Amino acid sequence: MHKIIITGGIGYIGSHTVVEFLESGYEVVIIDNLSNSELSVLEGIEKITNKKPIFYEADICDENEIKNIFHQHSDTKALVHFAASKAVGESVEKPLKYYKNNIGGLVNILTNMLEIGVNNIVFSSSCTVYGQPKILPVTERSPIIKPESPYGNTKKISEEIITDTVNANENLKAISLRYFNPIGAHPSALIGELPIGLPNNLLPFITQTAIGLREKLLVFGNDYNTPDGTAIRDYINVCDLAKAHLFAVERLLDNKSNFNHEFFNIGTGKGNSVLEIIKAFEKSTGQKLNYEITSRRFGDVEQVWADTSFAEKILGWKAETSLEDTVKSAWDWEKKNRGRVE
Ligand code: NAD
Ligand code: WQD
Repeated sequence: MHKIIITGGIGYIGSHTVVEFLESGYEVVIIDNLSNSELSVLEGIEKITNKKPIFYEADICDENEIKNIFHQHSDTKALVHFAASKAVGESVEKPLKYYKNNIGGLVNILTNMLEIGVNNIVFSSSCTVYGQPKILPVTERSPIIKPESPYGNTKKISEEIITDTVNANENLKAISLRYFNPIGAHPSALIGELPIGLPNNLLPFITQTAIGLREKLLVFGNDYNTPDGTAIRDYINVCDLAKAHLFAVERLLDNKSNFNHEFFNIGTGKGNSVLEIIKAFEKSTGQKLNYEITSRRFGDVEQVWADTSFAEKILGWKAETSLEDTVKSAWDWEKKNRGRVE
């Protein structure tokens, strides 16, 4: 049984990934400081899998604590690194919080990996590194542009830090997964996205509006150069996304990588507009959504979706869940979760 450390494993994508690894027979060690998540998620993970991951409530920036944890788990084979701050708007107001947590945390994790000899890392990157691509769909060879936000910049810089580190340490191998827009929840509705306060992202805003927590969804702009005028994204099911991490870790453990640091787009390969997402939600849940068109949101790109052929061919991974099933899973989670909160 391979041991794997998952930082940020109590968070949205991390918790779904912990489930995948536990169900595939890995021993999982989670490090999370609960800065953007709740301990109750651990119960959901345990109910789904009937297994107990090892959990440390610890900050990845804390040098002593992380060193201690690594020394206790020196038999770890790989690490999946989710822990980071992720609110784009907040990162513009508090850039140093983002550089400290996302860059400082990564440096501390890499330092301990090298010290203990944990030789494989999978990193959570983002399609934000492409900005508004000139050619669509976007491939891994598309230019990486200067990011719009400090958050986006931390993803670009993190990829560079990992490249420099693997180049200087021949035993270390890395895969960066560039996620497009993760949505949905585990089909059990025992874990899902738990945004704190007003959601920034589309799907939680839709489900919170449908359940009556928000009055209406504001659709940011219908004057884009797209078929229905609203912006287009590649919405990827969170369980499909979680599975990509398993494929990536297995590729590293099987020594199949062609390069010390590989990059994969993780999306569906299909773009959907905001109005299409609303329609898919209404159709699959039977809920009518109250929404209104308003002006564009500052910093939004017009359209982006992934070319996923490289991930399919090289990683052997492909998105499988339909958009309807995915938005339905977000709704099932919202219903169950509100019941729990109230
Ligand atoms: P999330 O906030 O739900 O999960 C991140 C987890 O990391 C949280 O549980 C948080 O408590 C923890 N964490 C943050 N800082 C920490 C620290 N210093 N020490 C220990 N734990 C810490 O976010 P998510 O949506 O699951 O995203 C996971 C990763 O994927 C992040 O790196 C994010 O930047 C990246 N990503 C997310 C998206 C998205 O839309 N959700 C898209 C692309 C990339
Ligand atoms: C999707 C679409 C909005 C809310 C962000 C980060 C990105 C990545 C994923 C981490 C856009 C529209 C949204 C609303 C709306 N994260 N929208 N009304 O902006 O594509 O990406 O999350 O790496 O870096 O920027 O995702 O879910 O916020 O928006 O009309 O209330 O929905 O304008 O077109 P985005 P999103």
